[in-house]
Amino acid sequence: MIRLTRDVREAARTLLEGNIVLLPTETVYGVAARADDPAAVAKIYRAKGRPLEHPLIVHVADAQAALAAGSPGAWVSYVPDYARALADHLWPGPLTLVLPRSERALDAVTGGQDTVAIRVPGHAIARSIIAAMDEIEPAGAPHGIAAPSANRFGRVSPTTIDDAIAELAGALDSASDLAVDGGPCDVGVESTIVDCTGAAPRILRPGGVSKAQVEEATGLVVDMAAPQVIRVPGLLPSHYAPEAHVVLAADAQEVQDLAAVPLERFEDMSCVGVIAPMGIPTPVGAVRLAAPLSAREYAHVMYSALREADRQGLPLVIAVPPEDDFTGLGEAILDRLNRAAAPRT
Ligand code: TXA
Ligand code: MG
Repeated sequence: MIRLTRDVREAARTLLEGNIVLLPTETVYGVAARADDPAAVAKIYRAKGRPLEHPLIVHVADAQAALAAGSPGAWVSYVPDYARALADHLWPGPLTLVLPRSERALDAVTGGQDTVAIRVPGHAIARSIIAAMDEIEPAGAPHGIAAPSANRFGRVSPTTIDDAIAELAGALDSASDLAVDGGPCDVGVESTIVDCTGAAPRILRPGGVSKAQVEEATGLVVDMAAPQVIRVPGLLPSHYAPEAHVVLAADAQEVQDLAAVPLERFEDMSCVGVIAPMGIPTPVGAVRLAAPLSAREYAHVMYSALREADRQGLPLVIAVPPEDDFTGLGEAILDRLNRAAAPRT
């Protein structure tokens, strides 16, 4: 069994030695390795079963370490003014910036692209671990850790250390790797990814930072079509998916209609899970997995509710997205639910 610790320095030493640490961020749990060690980064891909062309996010302790373009240890080679504005306003926090890479950003991290994704996490333990790496091994260049979500590729991201361990401990080395418990993740969905390589910011993945926040911080207009409940989700690659089949419903009536179909198939409503805002009633006999009161609470409980469906062996989950609350989370939830509902390959 993988060793569990709350010792930040022990986690830092483990990473410096080229080993893997499961660690908390404010969004979801990450599976981390030092970003400047190709062999360590390769262990992440192996553990996740992730295709090599899917690039990773580099996490650093502070904005200065992230955006020191031009200096020897820099992770990026150029930072437009609007990216600095985003960092000033929204870091530490659930925001990832995609910037032109430096030499130090390895192909193993960037997937061979000429950009690198970088963020300063909002969870104090994550930042402390990276800062401790800088303290223990002050190489002159600030350390960074590559850390994708700590799930097997295509599966639901973990929001507790128990879920991260359940996902990946079997694929890690219990003699050298480590898990750090930082409590349940505050935000619950992955960071907003903003492409900062063009004249204006572009949102590549919705998350805990909204389009409005990006526009307010930069004074620029962001180009992003709002995602909708996709009724023919064939264009979306399946991702963030539990074992259960996920279908989306727009309102209480659609929940009832969808629930009627499995009634014929399984003759029992107890095989149907429901994730929906508090105001939506549960069809008689179905299993209520979550009844959040706000988009914020929805994001916080969504992934663990999907996992609970699998724990209970439910073949079907009906999910009703929350009303958009304009915090960015409504959009992020809809994006993840659409992908969970997309056909599996
Ligand atoms: O909240 C988060 O961002 C979490 C926590 C652990 O920090 N991490 C996370 O990592 O969600 P991951 O690997 O599951 O998702 C990273 C996303 C991928 O969709 C990847 O394609 C994109 O970031 N990405 C990474 N580098 C990129 C780049 N250079 N250009 C465009 N997209 C990039
Ligand atoms: Mg992920």
